[in-house]
Amino acid sequence: MQLEALSGVGAVVSGVDLRHLEDMQETLLKQAFADHGVLFFRDQSLTPEDHIAFACRFGPININRFFKATETHPEIAEVRKEKEQTTNIGGAWHTDHSYDQEPALGSVLVARNLPQTGGDTLFASMYAAYDGLSDGLKETLSRLRAVHSSRHVFGAQGAYRGDGEQRIGNAEAATQDAIHPVVITHPLSGRKALYVNPAFTLHFEGWTQEESWPLLSYLYNHATSDAFTTRFVWQPGSVAFWDNRATWHYALNDYHGDFRLMHRITIEGCPLV
Ligand code: SIN
Repeated sequence: MQLEALSGVGAVVSGVDLRHLEDMQETLLKQAFADHGVLFFRDQSLTPEDHIAFACRFGPININRFFKATETHPEIAEVRKEKEQTTNIGGAWHTDHSYDQEPALGSVLVARNLPQTGGDTLFASMYAAYDGLSDGLKETLSRLRAVHSSRHVFGAQGAYRGDGEQRIGNAEAATQDAIHPVVITHPLSGRKALYVNPAFTLHFEGWTQEESWPLLSYLYNHATSDAFTTRFVWQPGSVAFWDNRATWHYALNDYHGDFRLMHRITIEGCPLV
């Protein structure tokens, strides 16, 4: 098994068949996942059952309450854009499930149908974003917590309203907010990571949205600078496995008139401190 670290964030892992992992390979993958935040694999041939079996090596599966699942496997969420649809799922910087009390560990995304061109996914490192801040700002952020919510995204009046429940549903479940530290100690690596994101973070605890916005906006610009990001170009057989506590991602929506279908499994996480 070989590992090539990418500039920005992540690593490409080659020489491994995710259907048949040896114990040593699994140990190495777990270490690489903690170190790099997102792992990319090429030329895999995962059936839905293989996809589930791979995800289960890292923790129990979280069945996402908003995404439509495949007809045959409730554990697998569809990330779908039909030819005639103009909006995509995940088309802004975010990390999955920060609105949960125990945010998901990560997600395993498998390419099923790709557009002729476009449909790449951007990733950003929240380890590197944190490391790149001044000591003064790190000190300020270390004392802050932030409020995250799903209501404005998955709720009845949220960003996906008008989708007709074709892809995103269960809006009535988008009621909960969660409060997390702005700087977390990553549960696997022990490293510090920035833990706010443009899609789900509403404001700092005890601050108004207006007060929070200038600092959040600064952090979002900083975290998405070229030095901390990478662009993954999907091919048939590609798989990405990202850590939601150490990275953000952004599904580019630049393939109108074409069809894209990905299968996503999300893995349960733990409280963040
Ligand atoms: C997601 O945000 O989970 C989907 C990412 C993608 O479709 O590339």
